[in-house]
Amino acid sequence: MSRGMIDDGLNELPASKRTSQRLPTFQVLDHQESAIDYQLPPIIHHPSSIIPPLTPFPVTLIAAVSDDGFISRGQGVPWDLPDDRAHFRERTLGRWLLVGRRTYEEMIGWFHNHQPLVLSTDAGFAPAIGTRVATVEAAIQIASDAGAGELMVLGGGQVFAATMPLATRLDLTLVHTRLGTGIPFPAVDPGVWRQVQSRPREADAAHRFSFTFTEWERAPGHGSEA
Ligand SMILES: NC(=O)c1ccc[n+]([C@@H]2O[C@H](COP(=O)([O-])OP(=O)(O)OC[C@H]3O[C@@H](n4cnc5c(N)ncnc54)[C@H](OP(=O)(O)O)[C@@H]3O)[C@@H](O)[C@H]2O)c1
Repeated sequence: MSRGMIDDGLNELPASKRTSQRLPTFQVLDHQESAIDYQLPPIIHHPSSIIPPLTPFPVTLIAAVSDDGFISRGQGVPWDLPDDRAHFRERTLGRWLLVGRRTYEEMIGWFHNHQPLVLSTDAGFAPAIGTRVATVEAAIQIASDAGAGELMVLGGGQVFAATMPLATRLDLTLVHTRLGTGIPFPAVDPGVWRQVQSRPREADAAHRFSFTFTEWERAPGHGSEA
């Protein structure tokens, strides 16, 4: 048989149904045993069709929370716990940090060794230390692009509320006192979060309240909504 082409007829559609892309054809080659060599069209990867990774970027919320779920009465942290401050310093050392504009203004003297990402809707706001970000997603992108293994969220209340759905880990110091009112930490749903660490600390002369260092991970099957 001489070398030739057998068109399957699909390329002979009426003009109204034709596309600019030529449909596959079967080639009959006289030197082949199978006689048919099906030519697959080339696969083109479009950036928009790339499936995002299933693993969310690690986001840890670190906070000190009263037994009734508050982080502040409205201004400043409502307890003085040197061991918790040391814990906070140690956990945040060398990390990428995200902080709300209000908490940033309260903490500004603390950021000697950090360049925090400061969340603010105000495009004119230029923090003296660190970088303003307009959205939580932008902060995650910056940390991820920089090769960070994790973004740590320092609060305050608004920022904890905005990042809780994306959080993968919680580092919570539970302070055993009740504030009654104030700025709440978002509810920690026991169906979504499982406690993986608990380390109690008694009150003493330097610590008016007892407290417990706790760590929480998202339970399997409750992936962040990132
Ligand atoms: N106990 C603890 O562990 C702890 C930890 C941290 C803070 N705190 C306390 O929390 C209090 C502050 O909390 P807060 O809720 O009032 O303020 P905040 O969360 O620190 O900051 C609020 C500001 O952040 C910006 N912001 C928040 N969510 C945003 C979003 N989704 N997109 C863009 N910008 C956003 C806005 O800034 P613009 O107004 O500039 O747009 C907003 O006014 C303080 O009393 C502080 O001491 C306690």
